[in-house]
Amino acid sequence: MKINTLIYYSIFAVTILSCHVKKVVNASNQKEAISNNTTPSSSLLFLKPASSVHEPGAKELAAIQTKYKDASLYQLELGHAIYTQGACLKCHGVIEIYPYSEDRWKGIVDTMAMRSQLSAEYKDAVYKYVLSIKATQVN
Ligand code: HEC
Repeated sequence: MKINTLIYYSIFAVTILSCHVKKVVNASNQKEAISNNTTPSSSLLFLKPASSVHEPGAKELAAIQTKYKDASLYQLELGHAIYTQGACLKCHGVIEIYPYSEDRWKGIVDTMAMRSQLSAEYKDAVYKYVLSIKATQVN
């Protein structure tokens, strides 16, 4: 075998080998990320699925009606859908509701509704939904 051919084959073999090693390292990094339950971007803020973000029911409706008598289950369900499947997911994942106070939520919904270009009806639904979850918060 000529020396040039030998060099050529060696370079080829090294290239293939290094690609393979890279793949294995990438795969194990991914596995580690999944088992640690971490997401690439600021994971504390954008937990998914979020435990305080659940479907509204009779309890949430009763709680919100102590403040807003005309609130309906339909409205809460609409808010939940926008929050977990709709416009609120355009820029980030589902965000926990519990960590923010009711007061903070008013400001957040104002800002975020503007960012999502929500109609007044949709904004109100998100606001009532969030408050109904806050009102039934246990811890
Ligand atoms: C156009 C992009 C965009 C949309 C749409 C959007 N958000 Fe946000 N949201 C952000 C960004 C960016 C942040 C990071 C903090 C900041 O810049 O205010 C954020 C942060 C938040 C936070 C954390 C606030 C804090 O002070 O830590 C909450 C809660 C939130 N968003 C809720 C919502 C809700 C509810 C909706 C739907 C009504 C929504 N977002 C729609 C961009 C968006």
